[in-house]
Amino acid sequence: MKGNVLVGQSGGPTAVINSSLAGVYKTAMERGFTRVYGMRYGIQGFMQEQYVDLADHIKNELDLELLKRTPSAYLGTCRYKLPEIHDDKSVYERIFELLDKLDIEVFVYIGGNDSMDTIRKLSDYALLTGARQRFVGCPKTIDNDLAITDHTPGFGSAAKYIATSTKEIICDAMGFSYNKKNVTIIEIMGRNAGWLTGASALAAGEDCEGPDMIYLPEISFDVDTFVAKVKDLLEKKDVVVVAVSEGIHNAEGKYICEFTSGSETKDAFGHIQMTGTASYLAQVVSQQLGCKTRAVELSTLQRAAAHMASLVDVNEAFAVGGATIKAADEGASGVMVVIERVSDDPYQSTTGVYDVHRIANAEKVVPRDWINKEGDGVEEEFLDYVRPLIQGHLNAMMVSGLPRHLSMDLKNYAWSK
Ligand code: F6P
Repeated sequence: MKGNVLVGQSGGPTAVINSSLAGVYKTAMERGFTRVYGMRYGIQGFMQEQYVDLADHIKNELDLELLKRTPSAYLGTCRYKLPEIHDDKSVYERIFELLDKLDIEVFVYIGGNDSMDTIRKLSDYALLTGARQRFVGCPKTIDNDLAITDHTPGFGSAAKYIATSTKEIICDAMGFSYNKKNVTIIEIMGRNAGWLTGASALAAGEDCEGPDMIYLPEISFDVDTFVAKVKDLLEKKDVVVVAVSEGIHNAEGKYICEFTSGSETKDAFGHIQMTGTASYLAQVVSQQLGCKTRAVELSTLQRAAAHMASLVDVNEAFAVGGATIKAADEGASGVMVVIERVSDDPYQSTTGVYDVHRIANAEKVVPRDWINKEGDGVEEEFLDYVRPLIQGHLNAMMVSGLPRHLSMDLKNYAWSK
């Protein structure tokens, strides 16, 4: 008889993080694990004995399908950094005591590079003490900055939303072009990696010119050069649309968002909350060039837009969830499931596993030769890489004109009960 599985979600959510949870749950049941417990608010909540038996919440296939279509972290998430083992053993003793109490055999953590730090530390501790639990990471982040894996679940859907919104923003701006010069700056998430910002280039096609300039955080940003380029463009056309990463910084490494107020808050991993880059630049352009400007910060919309999720992404998220259970069931620990691209046309991928020590805390950025020479756009190789990941659509289940989601916390919530 197999023991139990414990699964948690950690870090910033994505439109498909719950599809991975569904994959973990379904595969664990199919492989004969007794129970699947879900940590409430990741490892931080678990240490306070906050967990649920998922069988009490996911009752049938319909709930599972709804879960796949539900944005945000269904279980709740956290940004919590475990201490180094030699700095505070008591934290680990507490966690492993709880794991034994719940008869946990497999621990799955769905998260990004910071969350893989948790898998690394827990699997190291288990090795050190001979504990029976196995620890497997399930990749997730809209930022697409995890090492080794071809890409991360969550990225394709966010890229699809960004490209779609960019098209719509350009359409809107074009409507006002008659005798009225205007500049729109779109701010896109991704921290120090420009994968998401680069995806705005997918907006260009037969019906849309795409953004005029795209600034990734891989290249240092100079405000004066930027304003001069906008000025130049406004001499040739009336509407200018620019996509900027939230993480662009000057040559000294200071983030542009740090020139505004509101970026002082830091999370447990020391990352500042990035916000305000587009507003700052829009203000500078308006002051220096005297034209109408608008700043659009896509903010949480880009990671919560389940209505715009890519089917490829939903399916891969589900598959990597299942692959974590398979890997652990076959004896793996201290690893993360990775996606391997088999072919581009037709697009095919498979899963593998990789040592989490090579992945935790590392950041994969856009290669320099996928960014144009001027540093204000992306090359065709970049688009060839992203395009397959935004394909297909998963229809929402609509109720009263709105997509239906699965909710754990709402009282009186009834769908399938
Ligand atoms: O880690 C993913 C991410 O979406 C980053 O792109 C972004 O900088 C960060 O999360 C924002 O996190 P929060 O909403 O916690 O400020």
